Amino acid sequence: MTAQSPALFEAIAAARDTITARLAEAAARTGRAPLAPRVGLILGSGLGGYAGGLADAVTIDYGDIPGFAASGVHGHQGKLVLGTRHGVPCVAMAGRIHVYEGHSAAQAAFPARVLIALGARTLLITNAAGGINPDWPPGTLMLIRDHIDLLRDHPLRGPNDDRVGPRFPDMTTAYAPALRELARGVAERAGIELREGVYVAMPGPTYETPAEVRMLRALGADATGMSTVPEVIVAAHMGARVLGLSCITNLAAGITGAALSHDEVTETATRVRATFERLLDGILSELARQGERT
Ligand code: HPA
Repeated sequence: MTAQSPALFEAIAAARDTITARLAEAAARTGRAPLAPRVGLILGSGLGGYAGGLADAVTIDYGDIPGFAASGVHGHQGKLVLGTRHGVPCVAMAGRIHVYEGHSAAQAAFPARVLIALGARTLLITNAAGGINPDWPPGTLMLIRDHIDLLRDHPLRGPNDDRVGPRFPDMTTAYAPALRELARGVAERAGIELREGVYVAMPGPTYETPAEVRMLRALGADATGMSTVPEVIVAAHMGARVLGLSCITNLAAGITGAALSHDEVTETATRVRATFERLLDGILSELARQGERT
C-alpha cells in the first residue's frame, strides 16, 4: 500500500474495521457497549505510559492492524490502547511511526487517519522537542501554535483521494484555536507553566547542527523535532481538530555547546512526565465537560 494511492479510503476502512471488530469482541465479553472513541492521543517519547491509565482498555499491537508500520524506537512502544479517561472514550497510540525509520510521511501519518476514522475528531498530539528559544529550559511544556514543515516528504504527495479530504487543505487553523484556549485555561488553573510557540519538523535522525539551529531560530521556530507534522497535516486533510504539545527535553544543538543524546531526551521526558500527564488529564476533563463523552 502507498497511503496516497486511490485506495487510501479502503486502506483506512480496513484498519478501522480490524479495530472495531476487536472492540466488538471485547464488548461481547464484558456485556458493555463497544467503545466509540472521541479523542485520539498520539503519545511521544517518554509519554507512552499515559495509555496505561485508560480504563477498561483494549490493547492492539500495531502489527495486527493492516497498514500500521512497526515502531522501533527506544522509548516508544507500538501499541494502540482504547479505553476511557475522565469519562472520555479515547484511542491512544503508545509509540508513533517516524519518517526517519524509513517510512514515507504518508505511512507515518496513516495511524492518525485511522484514529480519526474511528470517530476521534479531536487529536491530542505530543512530542519531545529540542528548545530553540534560549529562554525556555529543558522541562518546559510548549503548546504548539503553528508549525514549519522541513521534512523532505509530504503525507499528501501523490494522487488525492477526494473521499478522504480535499486536494489543497487549508492550514490556517491546523492547531485549533479553541483547543489552545482550552489548554491555556487548564494549565493556568492547575498552576502548570505552559509556553506557546512554533514547532519545526526536521527529518532526523541526526539532531540538528548548530548552524541549522541558528537558521531555524531565524525562521521563527521555538522548538524542533522529528515528528508530529505528518499527523497534523492528515488531520487538517480530514477536518479533525488538533491540540499539539511539546515537551522541551533539551536545548537544541549549539545553544549550550554540550553534546545532545537520546538519554537526555528520555531523562527530561521522564522528569516532567507527571506534570505533562496532569496537563493531559486536565484537558480531557475539560473536553468531557464540553461534551466529548459517549
Ligand atoms: N532536535 C530534534 N528532535 C528532538 C530534539 C532535538 O534537539 N530533542 C528531542 N527531539
